[in-house]
Amino acid sequence: MNTQYFATVARGLEEIAAQELQNLGAQSVKVSFTGVYFQGDRELLYRVNLWSRIIFRVLVPIAKVKSFNSQQLYRSVQQIDWAEYLDPDMTLAVTCSGKNKQLNHSHFTALQVKKAIVDQQQQAFGQRSDVDTEEPDLLVNAHIDNNRCVLSLDSSGGSLHRRGYRPAVGLAPLKETLAAALIDLSNWTPELAFYDPLCGSGTLPIEATMKALNIAPGLNRDGFGFQNWLDYDRDLWEQLLTEAQDQQKNHLEVPILGSDRDPEVLQQAQENAENCQLHDYIQFLHQNLDQAEPPAKHGVIICNPPYGERLGNTEELESLYKLLGDIFKQRFTGWTAYILTGSKHLSKKVGLRTSQRIPIFNGSLPCTLLKYELY
Ligand SMILES: C[S@@+](CC[C@H](N)C(=O)[O-])C[C@H]1O[C@@H](n2cnc3c(N)ncnc32)[C@H](O)[C@@H]1O
Repeated sequence: MNTQYFATVARGLEEIAAQELQNLGAQSVKVSFTGVYFQGDRELLYRVNLWSRIIFRVLVPIAKVKSFNSQQLYRSVQQIDWAEYLDPDMTLAVTCSGKNKQLNHSHFTALQVKKAIVDQQQQAFGQRSDVDTEEPDLLVNAHIDNNRCVLSLDSSGGSLHRRGYRPAVGLAPLKETLAAALIDLSNWTPELAFYDPLCGSGTLPIEATMKALNIAPGLNRDGFGFQNWLDYDRDLWEQLLTEAQDQQKNHLEVPILGSDRDPEVLQQAQENAENCQLHDYIQFLHQNLDQAEPPAKHGVIICNPPYGERLGNTEELESLYKLLGDIFKQRFTGWTAYILTGSKHLSKKVGLRTSQRIPIFNGSLPCTLLKYELY
């Protein structure tokens, strides 16, 4: 039986996320703002959680109820039979997105939904679920849209950008999902060498290697929301895990490289690669950009140089962007290079003609992915 799902995704990545979902077998795929609707069975739900490189989470909508104000929301939520999804010995958390005139404080709205659920449990069983905001067994999302509220179960639990190989630290690392999306947008294929000469904590080379070796990005995660659900199908999940492990490759055709001048972030990159057992596949070099050399005749460079005041002063940044342009032109003939930046002013300093400019959001920051064909 097919169910309707909703994948949440970063702004601007809806179209490539839809393509990815289609490739994974999703049906009736429909793009929306920061999300993609699709249909499929339970196997697809598990498969998308395990294999998607670009989306944040998959929500399973269970009801759309009236929610003019908090009293109406409380009553509507109580009409849903929560025993179908939640035992009192399971923990619970509720998040809220969207708002209307009366329900304009998401924390309060979430509390109201939680209260309606646990009050129902208390009446029915004389016991109620404890709240655990860190690792709940059931994570409910309440999305307010005008006078309606869509209640969904979050099948992913934590966001899927947390692959499990990188601790939540670092200077300005790219989200893993954004790095994977940039690689997709570049049309890089594993027959081409890959190089990030400003690799920081190594997100781009690591995501490229995972793609090249056909490693499911969810394999290193601690767990997924649906694994704590009452209808969890362990056999199905284990079958998908075995299938993913069998499909993994153990050989790269071409070099994948990252380099950075900062020894500390490079150490972090090395550790991240070790955390996902990819350290034997990626070469990390401690060097300044001016020492960058192509590891093959053809290949793809993707990098995100710093561009904000926080990460460097203007003069220094201007010379970094100019150096990027010089190095591309002088040493990387036959390659295609991409720069993700949020600064128009700095992008002009590269001094090369772009063949494409793709608008992208890095979190809430509007950026552009600049493409350079280096003849
Ligand atoms: C915005 S961060 C890249 C983040 C990276 N994509 C990640 O996911 O962690 C920019 C990186 O450029 C490096 N960098 C800046 N100037 C450099 C230079 N001249 N040579 C080499 N690396 C440089 C910094 O050390 C920093 O790690």
